[in-house]
Amino acid sequence: TGSTPTPQELLAIAIDVAREAADTAYRMRAEGVVVAATKSTITDVVTAADRAVERQVLDALATLRPDDSVLGEEYGEEPGAGAHGATGSGVRWIVDPIDGTVNYLYGLAHCAVSLAAEVDGAVVAGVVRNVFTGEEWTATVGGGAWRAGQRLRCSTETDLGQALVATGFGYDAARRSHQARVVAGLIPHVRDIRRLGAAALDLCLAAEGRVDAYFEKGLAAWDQAAGGLVASEAGLRVAGLRGLPAGPDLVLAAPEALFAPLHDRLDDLDAAGGP
Ligand code: IPD
Ligand code: CA
Ligand code: CA
Ligand code: CA
Repeated sequence: TGSTPTPQELLAIAIDVAREAADTAYRMRAEGVVVAATKSTITDVVTAADRAVERQVLDALATLRPDDSVLGEEYGEEPGAGAHGATGSGVRWIVDPIDGTVNYLYGLAHCAVSLAAEVDGAVVAGVVRNVFTGEEWTATVGGGAWRAGQRLRCSTETDLGQALVATGFGYDAARRSHQARVVAGLIPHVRDIRRLGAAALDLCLAAEGRVDAYFEKGLAAWDQAAGGLVASEAGLRVAGLRGLPAGPDLVLAAPEALFAPLHDRLDDLDAAGGP
């Protein structure tokens, strides 16, 4: 109870919790604790660290912010202790304990802890921390996107033909076939495609022009909550197709000048359709 914390206050909590979570993920990888099971399909893996890290985040938030609720990839929705149900305090945290689990499993240094805070359903603060490199992206609504003390701006590229476009694929085989057709149709029209393996990091890289744009079908809230705020605070337009908001059908993050040409290509290729 008490008054709603500011986005800056929520970000400070998020940063502390995400750093400890990333340390745990790093340590478990170094110790070789990488027991994997599968979830929705045989390609959809979960490691012991995914679960341990999310448990640690849940415990830390339960101590620091007991009335808040939390949505996480591995344990789902955890209602806060507040008397008013799932959003007793009005604050909900959204956690992806390890975004880029396949990279984590293979020891590829490109995976992250993603933690965002929503107030009354809108993301107001977020942090994405690379488990291996310690690179850390943060944003608050209206307060800009930041890494290493630098305010981030997205790419100024205006020509889709020279744009480096990141994307990703889901775990379902039928969806992947459709996503592969979309990529096949897009690749003649862009500089190149990147499939780096962590949606939250893709959005953060777009926030500083290390890729020009990003799109993906099938993301969950935990994949895009923190990274989406980082991207939009860095000047990207983050939306779906045909005026829809970014969501499970499609997340498209592009600088203003690239948004329409990439949107129209993706719409022609039915990127938000299919299984
Ligand atoms: C996955 C990664 C991947 C993206 C998938 C996500 P996970 O998240 O972000 O890059 O293409 O759609 O599910 O399972 O590694 O947390
Ligand atoms: Ca996963
Ligand atoms: Ca994820
Ligand atoms: Ca994950």
